[in-house]
Amino acid sequence: MKIFSGIRPTGDIHLGNYLGAIKQWIELQEKEDCLFCVVDWHAITTPYDEKTLQDKIFDLSCSYLAAGLDPKKCSLFIQSQVKEHSELAWLLGTIIPLGELKRMTQFKDKSQKHSEYINAGLLNYPILMAADILLYKTEAVPIGKDQVQHLELTRNVAEKFNKKYGKTFIIPKPMLPKQGAVIMSLTDPNKKMSKSDDGKGCIGLFENPKEIEKKIMSATTDSDNEIRYDLEKKSGISNLLTIYSLFSNQTIKQIEKEFKGKGYGDFKKSLSQLLIKKLEPLRIKKQDLMKNPDLVYSILDKGAKEARKKAEQTMIEIRNKMGLK
Ligand code: AMP
Ligand code: TRP
Repeated sequence: MKIFSGIRPTGDIHLGNYLGAIKQWIELQEKEDCLFCVVDWHAITTPYDEKTLQDKIFDLSCSYLAAGLDPKKCSLFIQSQVKEHSELAWLLGTIIPLGELKRMTQFKDKSQKHSEYINAGLLNYPILMAADILLYKTEAVPIGKDQVQHLELTRNVAEKFNKKYGKTFIIPKPMLPKQGAVIMSLTDPNKKMSKSDDGKGCIGLFENPKEIEKKIMSATTDSDNEIRYDLEKKSGISNLLTIYSLFSNQTIKQIEKEFKGKGYGDFKKSLSQLLIKKLEPLRIKKQDLMKNPDLVYSILDKGAKEARKKAEQTMIEIRNKMGLK
């Protein structure tokens, strides 16, 4: 099966990115034909610093590798190195109705948040994402829940294209993790964990042990001190149980049993120890990679070559079908 996914180089990746997206990627690379991308053209649709953009791209690439992506098993590359993404985005833009773009929740949220910077790129963001996916005739896209609406749009575009110009694209499916499709903020468990909320609510995947412990110990919970999963009434502790379960490979039921009669303090202590232990090797690996830019860039170059080869082929077919040369 052909798989594609990407993350924007806009800040340190966190537990939500890992559990919602990357953890699935690591499993998929074992069996499937996978392309994973640093989507830098998407990152510049919201305010950013051009002086540090390359550092962020490098940082995210190291994070991918440190988290467990293996360049022998998948292709890793930077979106802007394969120009066909922008060509296909332009072409798809001619068949997406404007109304569909204006309806997107992410467009509405981001234009509210950055009201001084509502650029056409922000509106066209989902077209570029559709191009990323369709360029490789992708069959499944492992993402967190917040990206499902964009995938719906991608599917619509693919269907419209196929109808108008003849069968070209496979209609790609979203692939959500059974658990952890949305990891919530530690300080406000009704809001998703997000890079822009880099205070106490968000744990970075490579954060140092002291910070991890501090953030888990001060995570918002309720006052009844019972370790039980109940998303509606006990959203804080339920979010922590989800994280515990995903890092320990135990079911929530097993964890509830283990902590029966114990208080939130004990549970949080165990959870922070678990996270520190599981994340330590990733942190060390990332530090090593950051010291070895030649290796990282050679992996990205190789990935871009592999991606370009596939992209060029699709573009020949598409230009041909659309009456272009
Ligand atoms: P972003 O940080 O928005 O570029 O997201 C990259 C990937 O991580 C996407 O597949 C998102 O759906 C996923 N993601 C982001 N935040 C969360 C979260 N809090 N919980 C689960 N998945 C998330
Ligand atoms: N829009 C996605 C996000 O914010 C990132 C992204 C861009 C993406 N292109 C993609 C994800 C293609 C999956 C497939 O998280």
